[in-house]
Amino acid sequence: MSKIALVYGSSTGNTEKIARQIQNFLADHEVDLYNVQECGVDFYSDYDNIIFGVSTWGEGDLQDDWDSYEKKFAQIDLSGKTVALFGLGDQEEYSDNYLDAMGSVYDIVIKNGASVIGAWENTGYDFDESTALRDGVFVGLALDEDNQSKLTDARVTQWLGEILPSFK
Ligand SMILES: Cc1cc2nc3c(=O)[nH]c(=O)nc-3n(C[C@H](O)[C@H](O)[C@H](O)COP(=O)(O)O)c2cc1C
Repeated sequence: MSKIALVYGSSTGNTEKIARQIQNFLADHEVDLYNVQECGVDFYSDYDNIIFGVSTWGEGDLQDDWDSYEKKFAQIDLSGKTVALFGLGDQEEYSDNYLDAMGSVYDIVIKNGASVIGAWENTGYDFDESTALRDGVFVGLALDEDNQSKLTDARVTQWLGEILPSFK
């Protein structure tokens, strides 16, 4: 398997913590960790496999690093890339917008030509609405460090086991 770019944005450190955890879990593979703002247009040519991590802020908005990156991101050709997404949010406080930013990143990634892997079942969560849900499943791994941090390790481990075989 070729190397993986693990690209995140994070305001209070939760998404960064999970990104580092994923890098540790994948210690047998070459996984390069970046804040999304470090990733220029040319960056992506080095990677066939990419994992994006995003948290949701405001009411359904992109986290700040992602927000200021969005215009550039919208112009990046991702055709031929295999992409997996993970999102962090708070399903209790923001029940109408749980993980919406993961839905927004998904839309851009699809528009820019990537194949997205790593859809995740919507069981064990309690919220009203999310744009990260498509046809009843999340477009990527759904995490909630505010309310369900005890479930995170098991979720991450299961999800990585599901996505790894699809990376090139
Ligand atoms: C002011 C504020 C607004 C938030 N808005 C949302 C939201 O709309 N949807 C959601 O799912 N989570 C929301 N959250 C929860 C964060 O996404 C969550 O705490 C996440 O773990 C933060 O990750 P980060 O530290 O990597 O940015 C919000 C949190 C705060 C403090």
